[in-house]
Amino acid sequence: MVTVLVLNGPNLARLGSREPEIYGSATLADVAQACAVTGGQLGLAVDVRQTDDEAELIGWVHQAADGRQPVVLNPAAFTHYSYALRDALAMRTAPLVEVHLSNPAARESFRHTSVVAGVADGTVAGFGLHSYELALRAVAALLSRPA
Ligand code: DQA
Repeated sequence: MVTVLVLNGPNLARLGSREPEIYGSATLADVAQACAVTGGQLGLAVDVRQTDDEAELIGWVHQAADGRQPVVLNPAAFTHYSYALRDALAMRTAPLVEVHLSNPAARESFRHTSVVAGVADGTVAGFGLHSYELALRAVAALLSRPA
């Protein structure tokens, strides 16, 4: 069975209490549970991780590239400025879907740029917890494309 890495960047361990008016009341554990359920429906295993550390996140991206593993990534604030993360993602060897709980395009102007979007297959943003479920569905569709 294919395992999708569901990677989460800085401050996302604080979901539930972090600016709930923007990010909702779901916790990261709720996100992990929803991903496991949706993954199960799609025949995909999921490995949900979070870090506040750019180097650790880049290490996981390298692991995914080496293992030809698909990635669903919420880069959080790294979205907007981490060229190092973007360069790591550019080495990907499997589907990559960028995901956001909120809709960065409808927020402060510094959030309107994603340095990651250009190396992803696509982006799902603005649907809270459901963004992750939709992103996993996109991964499943990408994996089932004829070679
Ligand atoms: C976020 C949006 C980012 O702009 C922000 O820095 C985050 C969360 C989201 O999921 O909506 O930390 O990626």
